[in-house]
Amino acid sequence: MKKGMFITLEGVEGVGKTTNLDFIADYLTTAGKEVITTREPGGTNIAERIREILLQHDQESLGDESEVLLMFAARAQHLEQVIRPALESGKWVLCDRFTDATYAYQGGGRRVKEADIRWMEHFVQKGLSPDKTVLLDLSVELGLQRAANRSQPDRFESEQHAFFEQVREVYLNRAKAEPNRFCVIDASQCIESVQKNIRQHLDEILKNA
Ligand code: TMP
Repeated sequence: MKKGMFITLEGVEGVGKTTNLDFIADYLTTAGKEVITTREPGGTNIAERIREILLQHDQESLGDESEVLLMFAARAQHLEQVIRPALESGKWVLCDRFTDATYAYQGGGRRVKEADIRWMEHFVQKGLSPDKTVLLDLSVELGLQRAANRSQPDRFESEQHAFFEQVREVYLNRAKAEPNRFCVIDASQCIESVQKNIRQHLDEILKNA
């Protein structure tokens, strides 16, 4: 029995998810909500170990099917150990990426069939999905430029430009298909404007919670 609100944050590399996740958590906490922040893939000991397999480079290449199955294995663990219990106890869960990322990266980037992802989504989530999703949108060019200033690229960050164009396209299509769930934020603006936009959406969410 879900009581809390489930909010996810999405976007391609370099859109500023980390900074804005902290901002959202602080804003909701100040508004009196009990908030937990978490991330995918990851969020539990076992799911974080799966994350390492997914993100690290290895001499053995990871197949697309293994990749999508591991994403959902991590998610099943995360849902059971962290997300469902928190929501059931009335907490608000703020998650850095969730299943929209699987549609975008594995579906768009790797070309895993959407119907296969949908089946896994039903199997693992059993009807639980985010109440709201903040999509930080930015051109791939700018995002990759921003992300390039970070440390060694992981397995996903090492992908080509075209891969991220597919990822972005799927995110935007999903946002268009579910306008009530998605808040699309233009992440090319300065941080003050981005956060002003986010704040407006959060006020709306708080008003209707
Ligand atoms: P992060 O860099 O935002 O922590 O995310 C880790 C990477 O995992 C990122 O490149 C996107 C990727 N990812 C997927 O490919 N599919 C998924 O379902 C999730 C949650 C993340």
